[in-house]
Amino acid sequence: MNGQASRLIELNKLAELGNKSSESKIISVCSGKGGTGKTFFSANFSYQLSKLNKRVLLVDLDYNFSNLNILMNQTSSSTISDFFEQSENLENVIYNYSSNLDLVFGDSGKPAFPRVSRELIDYLFTSIRRIQHRYDFIILDSSAGADGLVLQQLMRSDYNIIVTSPEPTAVMDSYVVVKLLVEKGSEAKRLVVVNKCSDAEEGENSFMNLSVAVNHFLKEKIELLGFISLDASAHKSIMNQELLLNFDRESKSAQEIYTNSARFITIAQVANNNHR
Ligand SMILES: Nc1ncnc2c1ncn2[C@@H]1O[C@H](COP(=O)(O)OP(=O)(O)O)[C@@H](O)[C@H]1O
Ligand SMILES: [Mg+2]
Repeated sequence: MNGQASRLIELNKLAELGNKSSESKIISVCSGKGGTGKTFFSANFSYQLSKLNKRVLLVDLDYNFSNLNILMNQTSSSTISDFFEQSENLENVIYNYSSNLDLVFGDSGKPAFPRVSRELIDYLFTSIRRIQHRYDFIILDSSAGADGLVLQQLMRSDYNIIVTSPEPTAVMDSYVVVKLLVEKGSEAKRLVVVNKCSDAEEGENSFMNLSVAVNHFLKEKIELLGFISLDASAHKSIMNQELLLNFDRESKSAQEIYTNSARFITIAQVANNNHR
């Protein structure tokens, strides 16, 4: 990390401290287990928020398997690697997708992908805070699991949306993520999406199992954002490299994403009103 970046981090940390009243708007979409649908959810949720007149920045922050560009069938000459290597400001790696939606792509597979460090995560958050006034929500699609870097990212976000599938293994891994966050004293608001549900009962049972364990063992609460069905349209939209909300607006999973997005806006409004 060069001297200029270190100074920028220090200056912005001071600014952050003096700026406690700023609105909560950074959302990390995370999971314990891989493949639960984080990227699918992040992309469609971001798009729906943008359709509801929210200005959204979606960042592919999966250091291992960044594939938002494939899911959305987009190419961009600049990626987050250019930012992490400090050759570019965050502003310069932002790609405009549609009127209210901007994207920052990752680029897994690139041999020069820099080793992401705690300092670089700090640098990212400092840079996000600098441009956050341009957006209503900044959504970070994360790597699965809870290694040190992911935990740091989750702790610095205002919201953690934990995407789980209904399987007991995924629910258990979600519990572990919550446990690690609680142990570290995270103040981020935790919301849960149960994705790939075969039916409503399956989703409800999975959420209840997670919620009861968090309540009982950690003495904490988690809130349900919503369920998303296991849906052939969702799978087909990914195969077609199209957003589900463009591919099949009437599908069950698209309707559920509309509901979850509207619910999130209400939750965020209440949180910001309480904060004020
Ligand atoms: N609601 C859903 N219905 C059907 N298939 C889904 C659904 N959500 C995700 N998938 C499938 O799960 C796979 C993994 O999703 P992805 O978003 O890439 O997961 P993650 O980002 O958590 O690794 C997708 O390729 C897709 O085929
Ligand atoms: Mg992903």
